[in-house]
Amino acid sequence: MGREFLEIFSDWSEDYDEFVEGKDPEYQEVFKNYDRILNELVSRSGNSIIEFGIGTGNLTLKLLAAGKTVFPIEPSREMREAAQKKLPTELEIIDGDLQKYPKPDRAIDTMVSSYVFHHLTDKEKALVLKDYALQLEENGKVVFADTMFKSKAAFFQKLNEAKKQNFYRLAEDLEREYYPIVSTVEQLFEEAGFDVDVQQMNDYVWIVTGTKK
Ligand SMILES: C[S@@+](CC[C@H](N)C(=O)[O-])C[C@H]1O[C@@H](n2cnc3c(N)ncnc32)[C@H](O)[C@@H]1O
Repeated sequence: MGREFLEIFSDWSEDYDEFVEGKDPEYQEVFKNYDRILNELVSRSGNSIIEFGIGTGNLTLKLLAAGKTVFPIEPSREMREAAQKKLPTELEIIDGDLQKYPKPDRAIDTMVSSYVFHHLTDKEKALVLKDYALQLEENGKVVFADTMFKSKAAFFQKLNEAKKQNFYRLAEDLEREYYPIVSTVEQLFEEAGFDVDVQQMNDYVWIVTGTKK
């Protein structure tokens, strides 16, 4: 499991960047403040980073521009191809995912991702966080931005709004993938041995920062 949504991203790779730029009305709110969200991830990250689910490479570019070393991981071949067009040719994009990826041969101080963590069920999220904690030194960080909801009621409110607006693609997405409740994510980070901080970035996206104790 964990790779069950890959086909969607293979199809989406060609025009994905138009969505993050807010050109599609259904996803405008989801990607609102996209640039600010990525900048915030950069400023919260250390210097030696694993990035999961790089997509078309927008966050990777910002991390590199800030002088950080990035080990980029992306399971979709089409997304890897789209990202490679933007990224330095010498940077190898690794075929892997949140659960299965080759370990870099240098110490890592941060695991980062944007719009990716919801591809795992809450059980899978718990397991990977424990794996990340084992790889990080004290004060190492997991910094994930993703769609999540304050409560079940907040989730259903957004789902109903999407249906009322005839945003069927967004509604289907919300029902299909594993968008968590913020307090659940906080609990999973704590149980894996992290101090946790959350910050809401728009109506959908929160940044969760776990600092290894
Ligand atoms: C919504 S895109 C986000 C791309 C990019 N991080 C961004 O912020 O624009 C989700 C990305 O996660 C990748 N993905 C899907 N399942 C994954 C998994 N289990 N582990 C890692 N990445 C995954 C997809 O192929 C896609 O590139």
